[in-house]
Amino acid sequence: MTETLMSQTSDSETPSSIWGGRFASGPAAVMQEINASIGFDKRLYRQDIAGSKAHCAMLAACGIISEADGNAIVSGLDAILAEIEAGAFPFRVAFEDIHMNVEARLKELIGEPAGRLHTARSRNDQVATDFKLWVRDALDAADVQLRALQCALLAQAEAQADAVMPGFTHLQTAQPVTFGHHMLAYVEMFGRDRGRFADARKRAGECPLGAAALAGTSFPIDRFHTAAALGFAAPTANSLDSVSDRDFALEALAAAAIAGVHLSRLAEELVIWTSAQFAFVRLPDSFSTGSSIMPQKRNPDAAELCRAKAGRLIADLNALLIVMKGLPLAYSKDMQDDKEPTFEAFDTLALCLAAMTGMISELAVDREACKAAAGKAFATATDLADWLVRALGMPFREAHHVTGALVKAAEAAGCGLTDLPLAAMQAAEPRITADVYSVLTVESSAASRMSFGGTAPARVREQCAAARTRFGL
Ligand code: ARG
Repeated sequence: MTETLMSQTSDSETPSSIWGGRFASGPAAVMQEINASIGFDKRLYRQDIAGSKAHCAMLAACGIISEADGNAIVSGLDAILAEIEAGAFPFRVAFEDIHMNVEARLKELIGEPAGRLHTARSRNDQVATDFKLWVRDALDAADVQLRALQCALLAQAEAQADAVMPGFTHLQTAQPVTFGHHMLAYVEMFGRDRGRFADARKRAGECPLGAAALAGTSFPIDRFHTAAALGFAAPTANSLDSVSDRDFALEALAAAAIAGVHLSRLAEELVIWTSAQFAFVRLPDSFSTGSSIMPQKRNPDAAELCRAKAGRLIADLNALLIVMKGLPLAYSKDMQDDKEPTFEAFDTLALCLAAMTGMISELAVDREACKAAAGKAFATATDLADWLVRALGMPFREAHHVTGALVKAAEAAGCGLTDLPLAAMQAAEPRITADVYSVLTVESSAASRMSFGGTAPARVREQCAAARTRFGL
């Protein structure tokens, strides 16, 4: 869509033709500048025209306007939609916002009947309806993208169900896990995100149109008619709440912020894993960037930017919470500032989800490097302690102590637990037998974690299959 924003001062001497009945002069240039939202709310054009068409059809069906006027208005609105999509619509700052731009253009196209469209309606219920429709579409689009990311993660999980890597706590080597298991952790997170978007979508199911300015209308409208025509489950139940509620946007932004946090955590892991010191994964050329001075560099810029952009998502939620905080009922112009943060958040989220899905799909896992790292830093010490409990009936606290001594001995000898001679083991605990070595490899460690939701490859494969069903992947 090409932008045709006309001069912001052109008609500052003329009162608005829409609401200027009681005004002798037009707005100051800066008044117009702070007041106008057309620069950003033109994005609501599709929803605005759909809302107006539904309202118009209802007015005609209820006998509030004539059939002929109704038809004229609908064809005019269709012509406007075509103009906007062709980039030929004259967006004008003088008409403030998308609602008045469409109505003013309608008057130019069809004349007198255009003035009847705004019967039993206000911009307050109009914008609430348009924006809610937009947010519902954004929620649906986010779900599609989140699902695609889950599919990419699941494909990696299936391929790497038995690839052993170090699991970390405090970013210190903790216990061996499988790469597939790690991918499935994110499948869960993004699954919960989808749940949050779906919940928000459900609560955004009521249509504000017909609440008019704040009190409802004296015209015999049928709000169930417009609600159904616009795909809502029902009309909103309280006209004051209808025009002052932005919970639907706040919930969407909250869910987006949480998804952004998840994306930033995965992004951070990619940044760590692609470093030469870890080298667990390699991003393809298509998702790497070079350095202008260091020829060897392969930088994970897209991951870094996903990490950074979570900040915007959090800020956008914060921005709207602060706009809404303390606003008296019903509509206040403050609420016009709901759109930019919401648009920015969903644009940002869409970009990050697309980039992350691309990176995860094309990630090459270095199974050998992962396995080698998994064996470092005494990662199977817990397995040794568990063996002492199982084989010798030792209380876990004592087993923990004995194992600590063995780790200390291995550290002093400069070797891993697997290379510590049996004699050295028996010096700490005489009842230890050679059977202990069977639990000290990283593969046996991971394979032993068979508890539900555990990291054993068999469990990971089961959870991959379960995830396909649970999340419809
Ligand atoms: N552009 C306005 C907004 O986005 C539309 C509603 C204006 N309502 C009013 N009473 N001035 O909030």
